[in-house]
Amino acid sequence: MAQNWNPGSWKNFEAKHLPRYEDPGLLADTEATLSTYPPLVFAGEARALKSELAEVCAGKGFLLQGGDCAESFAEFHPNNIRDTFRVLLQMAVVLTFASKQPVVKVGRMAGQFAKPRSAPTETLEGKELPSYFGDIINGIDFDDVSRVNDPQRMLRAYAQAAATLNLLRAFSTGGYANLRQVHQWTLDFVGRSPWAEKFKDIADRIGEALDFMAACGIDPERVPQLQGTSFFTSHEALLLQYEQALTREDSLTGKWYDCSAHMLWIGDRTRFEGSAHVEYLRGVDNPIGMKCGPSLEPDALLKMLDTLNPSREPGRMTLISRFGHDKVEAGLPRLVRAVAREGHPVVWSCDPMHGNVIKSDSGYKTRPFDRILTEVKGFFAVHRAEGTHAGGIHIEMTGQDVTECVGGAVAITDEALGDRYHTHCDPRLNAAQSLELSFLLAEMLNLEAEQRQAAAA
Ligand code: PEP
Ligand code: CO
Repeated sequence: MAQNWNPGSWKNFEAKHLPRYEDPGLLADTEATLSTYPPLVFAGEARALKSELAEVCAGKGFLLQGGDCAESFAEFHPNNIRDTFRVLLQMAVVLTFASKQPVVKVGRMAGQFAKPRSAPTETLEGKELPSYFGDIINGIDFDDVSRVNDPQRMLRAYAQAAATLNLLRAFSTGGYANLRQVHQWTLDFVGRSPWAEKFKDIADRIGEALDFMAACGIDPERVPQLQGTSFFTSHEALLLQYEQALTREDSLTGKWYDCSAHMLWIGDRTRFEGSAHVEYLRGVDNPIGMKCGPSLEPDALLKMLDTLNPSREPGRMTLISRFGHDKVEAGLPRLVRAVAREGHPVVWSCDPMHGNVIKSDSGYKTRPFDRILTEVKGFFAVHRAEGTHAGGIHIEMTGQDVTECVGGAVAITDEALGDRYHTHCDPRLNAAQSLELSFLLAEMLNLEAEQRQAAAA
C-alpha cells in the first residue's frame, strides 16, 4: 500500500491543467453525489487487465489501445460506440494473427472527456474566452456561457460513461464479438479498399485458419473464446476531482482503485516530479500508463517508475512513447535502455499520434497517415535494435468515416479535411485508416514473431 497517501492527498501537490470552478459549494456537492454512485468497474477487472499486461511485459502479448481524443456529449450514440468497438476488434484479429500472440484490447472510451490544452484561453475575431477543456469541464461552443467550468458536467459524463460501458460489456460477451463475424467485416473492408491487393493475403490466411478450426470442430457456437472477448476501458486521469470521487477501497484486498476505468494514464504535460496527477495515481492499484515525450530524461523516467511502481509489479506500468515521426529513433533508445538497465518491468507502447500534429494549409489540425506509420516503424526498429519487446500501440481513432487525418488508402487530401471533420480535439484515424494501420503493423509483427521463433530455435 502506498505510504502517506489518501484519495485526496494530491491536493497538497502542484496541479497543472485542472479547472478552477467558480462555485466551490456546487463542486463539493457534485463530488459528494458522485462518491455515492456505483463504481463503473470492479477492482477484480482491473487486476485481470494487469495480469494480461504482465504477459505483454514478458513479451507474450500485444496491447491495442484506441478511441477518441475526446469523447463528447454530442457524439454520444450507440452506433458510434458500436463502430469504434468493431474496428478495434477487427484490428485486434489482424494483430493476433500476425503476432501469434494475444492482443489486449483497451478503449479510450467510457470516460475520456477531460483535455489538457496548450493555452488557457482562445481568441477568435478579437474575442478572448477560456479554452475548451472537454465536455466533462465546459462546452465547445465559442460563447461566454459554454466556456464556464461547470462541475455538474461530471454527473453527465459519469452517466454517459456508465451507458457506454454497459453497451461495451454487452457487445463483448453477447455474441457481437464473434470471431467469424469480425473477420467477415474485415473481408468486406478489404474488398472495398484501394489497397486490397496488399491486404488480401493476410485476410485470406485468417479465413483459412478459421475454416481449419471449424473443420476440427472448434467454432464460435461452442467455444466461448471465439464467441466473445475481453475488452477494457481507459482514459487520461486528468480531472482529479472526478477520479477522486470514483476512488473506492476494494473490500476483498483493502487496496484503493480508481473505479472510473480499468486503466488510467498520466499525460505528457502532467508527468513531472511533484505533480498532483502522479501523486493521485501512485496510490491506486489499477494498471497505469504514462506518456513519454521528447522532453522526458531517462533519470526522470526512472524516478517516476520508482514512485509509481516501487514494488516493480509487472503489468502495473505501460510507457506510451509519443516522440514524433522524426524524433522517435533518436529519442526513444535512451529511455528503453535506462528502463532495461534498471530492470523495471514495463509494457512499451507507441502513440504515433501526439507527436505528429500539423496545421494543414486549409487551417485544420491534422496528422499525416504516413508520419503515423513512420513513427510506428521507428518504434519497432528501436525495440528490435535494443532487444526489447514492442508491446503495443495507442491511437486516436473512430469507427466513423471522418476526414481528420490526411493520407491513407483513399488519400484524404488537405482540401477534403473540411468534409467530415468532427473531432472535439485532435484529429483521429477513421475506420478505414485504422484498419490499414493494423494491416501494415501486421507486417512488422510478423517480423518480430519470426525473430522470436529464430531465437528459440
Ligand atoms: C492525449 O492522449 O489525448 C494527450 C493529450 O496526449 P499527450 O499527453 O501525450 O499529449
Ligand atoms: Co489527443
